[in-house]
Amino acid sequence: MTTSRPRVIVTRRLPDAVEDALRASFDVQLNPADRQFTPAELRKAMLHCDGLLCTLTDQLTADLFPAPNGSCRILANFGVGVNHIALDAAREAGLIVTNTPGVLTECTADLAIALILMTLRRLGEGERELRAGAWTGWRPTHLLGHRVSGRRLGVVGFGRIGEAVARRASHGLGMQVLAWGPRELSRERLAAAGARASDSLEQLLSDVDVVSLHCPLTTETERLMDRRRLRLMKRGAVLINTARGEIVEEEALIDALRSGQLGGAGLDVYAREPEVPAALLGLPGVVLLPHLGSATVETRTAMGLRAVENLRAFFAGQMPPDRIA
Ligand code: GLV
Repeated sequence: MTTSRPRVIVTRRLPDAVEDALRASFDVQLNPADRQFTPAELRKAMLHCDGLLCTLTDQLTADLFPAPNGSCRILANFGVGVNHIALDAAREAGLIVTNTPGVLTECTADLAIALILMTLRRLGEGERELRAGAWTGWRPTHLLGHRVSGRRLGVVGFGRIGEAVARRASHGLGMQVLAWGPRELSRERLAAAGARASDSLEQLLSDVDVVSLHCPLTTETERLMDRRRLRLMKRGAVLINTARGEIVEEEALIDALRSGQLGGAGLDVYAREPEVPAALLGLPGVVLLPHLGSATVETRTAMGLRAVENLRAFFAGQMPPDRIA
């Protein structure tokens, strides 16, 4: 059967409502087996689709576009981070790139707060102990963590997610919140979130008990938390990362945790996912999650529908609402 509908290739399995919406609008190739595309499969897809609905597990490197005689005109990313897409090359090749901002803010902020609670209150350790059958009963000195209210939280990157974390931490948990971003922060947004601006990243790192990362991964933020900056953190402080693994120098983090310079870490992202350094697995004060920031039915559905909206707008000749390149 021939069709005049745009051909959209989808690289991962998506929530049912999103796949239904794709079927309704496009000549769509889904991925029911949810097997990650190889570079060769991505290259082939670029040649045979009008639009690619991709995710952070697809490395869209410059050599994939412009493909000779390629037909793909839009990369509609499922997710807000676009560090896996060679944006300059995409632009030069005349490709439109969109993402899905806004819809994952609240759930990702919830997960950062969960990691703050899990690390400060030693909840991962407690859960592991109980499941191992090692719990011997209540006692006054068992698994003592730290009080969350009144502690100082440093939010690095004050975009939508950083702001939502600050709001929860200050208004919900009673933490004192400092924030830092590469550009001047809006007074109104800081006030609404109950946060104060820090003069510099270095100042923030030495002032707070918990540092939570909320910046995108770019050439400027890669290894932002390097050995030197990790050393600036207070002894016994905790690092939370729900942004991207590459923002932290993982080997330096492991050394800081091993030496007791840091008291713990709550990580949802890693530099070479799905690989998790073995050294982290052996550290009890570290909580390790498998990149679950936006993983709720509501948010993953909203992200998918947002990508569909971007594709629909583009193929209807309109400006996609979330165009970033
Ligand atoms: C998830 O990590 C995203 O970038 O949306």
